[in-house]
Amino acid sequence: PANRLQVEGSSSLWRADCRAKGGSPGFKVAILGAAGGIGQPLAMLMKMNPLVSVLHLYDVANTPGVTADISHMDTGAVVRGFLGQNQLEDALTGMDLVIIPAGVPRKPGMTRDDLFNINAGIVRTLCEGIAKCCPKAIVNLISNPVNSTVPIAAEVFKKAGTYDPRRLLGVTMLDVVRANTFVAEVLGLDPREVDVPVVGGHAGVTILPLLSQVKPACSFTQEETEYLTSRIQNGGTEVVEQMFKKEFQQMSQAYAAVKFADACLRGLRGDAGVVECAFVSSQVTELPFFASRVRLGRHGVEEIYPLGPLNEYERVGLEKAKKELAGSIEKGVSFVRK
Ligand code: LMR
Repeated sequence: PANRLQVEGSSSLWRADCRAKGGSPGFKVAILGAAGGIGQPLAMLMKMNPLVSVLHLYDVANTPGVTADISHMDTGAVVRGFLGQNQLEDALTGMDLVIIPAGVPRKPGMTRDDLFNINAGIVRTLCEGIAKCCPKAIVNLISNPVNSTVPIAAEVFKKAGTYDPRRLLGVTMLDVVRANTFVAEVLGLDPREVDVPVVGGHAGVTILPLLSQVKPACSFTQEETEYLTSRIQNGGTEVVEQMFKKEFQQMSQAYAAVKFADACLRGLRGDAGVVECAFVSSQVTELPFFASRVRLGRHGVEEIYPLGPLNEYERVGLEKAKKELAGSIEKGVSFVRK
């Protein structure tokens, strides 16, 4: 351009768009709820991700400040901010990946399901936008209660005729992150060396760590199994109960969400062997949605792995998890169908 100062936004915007058009590995990512307690640290971490060429930050309040701040980081991704519902469509158009932490967080004493009445409507509106503006995008849904918001999103996409179950993923990565941390503490290992599959859903007893399948291979006493299962299932509550004095700013969820989004982007790029746990449309059990290990690829979920051999403790846990999950899924489905 003749005057580099007059290019929309900044010259880096122009450069990044050129890069993206030239088929570079850069992906376009939107965060819906980017000014919130998860959204802000999530935006910062996504700005640091080398796979991201364009980062759209959408929220109903405070996006200009967050966008100005994040945009000063000297990493490759170009940042644009979008404020209020009439900018939702611009925020979504052309996106490869949409991450949704939007909605309200729990307060002490609340369950994730207590957020349903507020967050269900928010997720529905945002997903209507996705169906209209970027129906082929991969969607990473973080807004609680995930066990119900993922079925809500699926119903919205079905209504719009855009539903592709491979592209809708409920983020349960934080359960895996916690499980790796807590198990590593018990085993005296570096958490980076530990891999714990966590299946089921993302609330209370629906969070089912499969401690019999931990890598590296190890065994636990009954007392350790009960302690670890309960700590992993109640990890969110452990944090929420300490947050009563201030706005809930959840760094671990942002970290987990970015770890998961990065896996989705590596899958989109065509990397082989990208496997993570996620809450997806599934035939692993009789329920229509279930979290388990999935392989991520160019279309999102390419393969869903079976649960593998469970011990007696896990089999009992699975029945409890399925019972609660069935109700949460049904609640989400009927919210849209009614
Ligand atoms: C978590 O697991 O930390 C989040 O889902 C937030 C919550 O309410 O527990």
